[in-house]
Amino acid sequence: MDKNDGYVSGQQLSDQLEISRTAVWKHMKELEKDGYKIEAIQRKGYRIISSPDKVSENTVQWGLNTDWLGHQLYHYKEVASTQDIAHQLAKQGKPHGTVVIADEQVKGKGRMSRPWHSPKGKGIWMSILLRPDLVPVQAPQLTLLAATVLAEVFIQKSELKPQIKWPNDILINHKKVSGILTEMQAEHDQIQYVVLGIGINVNQAADDIQGDLRHKASSLRIESEEEWSIAETIQCILHQFEKTYDQFMSQGFKKVKNVWEKYGYKIGEQVTIKTMKREWQAELIGIEPDGALKARDQKGNEEKLYSAEIMW
Ligand code: BTN
Repeated sequence: MDKNDGYVSGQQLSDQLEISRTAVWKHMKELEKDGYKIEAIQRKGYRIISSPDKVSENTVQWGLNTDWLGHQLYHYKEVASTQDIAHQLAKQGKPHGTVVIADEQVKGKGRMSRPWHSPKGKGIWMSILLRPDLVPVQAPQLTLLAATVLAEVFIQKSELKPQIKWPNDILINHKKVSGILTEMQAEHDQIQYVVLGIGINVNQAADDIQGDLRHKASSLRIESEEEWSIAETIQCILHQFEKTYDQFMSQGFKKVKNVWEKYGYKIGEQVTIKTMKREWQAELIGIEPDGALKARDQKGNEEKLYSAEIMW
């Protein structure tokens, strides 16, 4: 759109979008209602002067340079959970790469059936619908992949030093700022679809973090001491996610594993591991080529874990 000092003529828009000039004008009025500042000059056309710092389908899709991710994007002010909406959309046949975002979730879901606090306008509450050609045992690799994407984006946009606590909690200064919830529908050893939910505490102030969570949860704003643009951060995540996902599908999990281990929390250290059946001390070694956690117990036995929690 930037050929003519950033102006684009009404005729050009009308030709490209295959709509009338009146319809173009009406769209501009809609964008203005959405908070965009638009200059319209005769014989030059339209130019966007500034975009609003709020999340909407427009603000996220404007300038989003992805091939397939987020081309169908649904933004809601309030939902129970973006996961539920994404499941509904999946069942309606919506395509791979569909994205659901909400300003607020009133029934946000965390891993292990825990609630996920998702206050209005303070974070990124987003679910991505994927239709990967993978077998169900590979689904956890997508979760690890998403964790590396978030760590890389936080590094690109700040001086922060994120770490990933297996499988997919993103910590900054030893406090959790983000979590990932992967839900899958599979049949006959083939994934039908995956709903990958990303929750990021972005602009909460210290007072916004509830009582007993204070010593283990934080936000990007608290840790970086600056406000983040939520729409811009979502765009960066979608770009980075698409790039990493395409690489994973064409080249396999190895690169993701290496990046994951670069950010791995307490790798090489003694931790307490907890499963449904027991709790024990072990040294974290890294992750296996299939994404399982590799640990060494105190007798020196190496173990491969698919479902466990690393205690704080
Ligand atoms: C966790 O660490 O327990 C995972 C948290 C995942 C939260 C996100 S927010 C967007 C999506 N919708 C939900 O209800 N949950 C996920």
